[in-house]
Amino acid sequence: MQSGLPSELQTKLHVGIIMDGNGRWAIRRRMSRLRGHEAGVEAIRRVVEAAPKQGVGTLTLYAFSSDNWRRPKAEVSALMSLLRFYLASEVEALVRNGVRLTVIGRRDRLPAGIAEAIGRAEAATAGGETLNLRIAVDYSARDAILNAVARAASLGGLTRENFSDLVTGEAGLRDVDLVIRTSGEKRLSDFLLWESAYAELHFTDRMWPDFGEEDLREALTAFHGRERRFGGLQPEALEPQGEPALSA
Ligand code: FPP
Repeated sequence: MQSGLPSELQTKLHVGIIMDGNGRWAIRRRMSRLRGHEAGVEAIRRVVEAAPKQGVGTLTLYAFSSDNWRRPKAEVSALMSLLRFYLASEVEALVRNGVRLTVIGRRDRLPAGIAEAIGRAEAATAGGETLNLRIAVDYSARDAILNAVARAASLGGLTRENFSDLVTGEAGLRDVDLVIRTSGEKRLSDFLLWESAYAELHFTDRMWPDFGEEDLREALTAFHGRERRFGGLQPEALEPQGEPALSA
């Protein structure tokens, strides 16, 4: 289990992004879907740079779901090549910018060499204190919960907190505050289901390759305008003292 996340990062927001619309973005421009995914990597760079300046401490990006193996072989293989390229080319910049990278999801089904490249990138960036960047690859929230259930048997007393550590693979990781999905789709698609129990949801028509600093700001402004009650009530909604809530 990962640990040692600077406490300052934990006090900042956890934003999850379902980066959708790469394919449609490309097709509309008469380009190959691969070109859309490449442009998606540029958007990742923009958002990783912008996030810490906008109060984000943890950013979880959905890059490849466990159901994405159903896509045509050529697209899967292009996405894996992009991931390999990202890991190799980005580490230096991530270290320079204080970004700590972890990859969540299964590693045993990834093409040869990628699991090792992930391990190297995680080790190189482990000291990052500006942003906790988590990239979900071969990820399924349902599977993460199932795996946690299997491991929970060894815990003496099961609590929401220690079960969360098993689900996320990271001790004390902050719950998700805001989930953003691009491209106009309004689904969670098996993304961070446990961690997003009280997350606010933001859907935008912007295609992921066009997403940038201003879009993140807009999502966070909307988030800050929401009233989060976590199942409770705001003080002004309480009954005046001394009056019964219901007449007999
Ligand atoms: C959804 O768009 C996007 C994906 C399934 C892949 C996301 C991948 C990247 C942004 C780049 C690769 C990531 C890394 C970390 C190197 P879609 O293809 O479903 O778009 P569509 O709905 O328009 O077809």
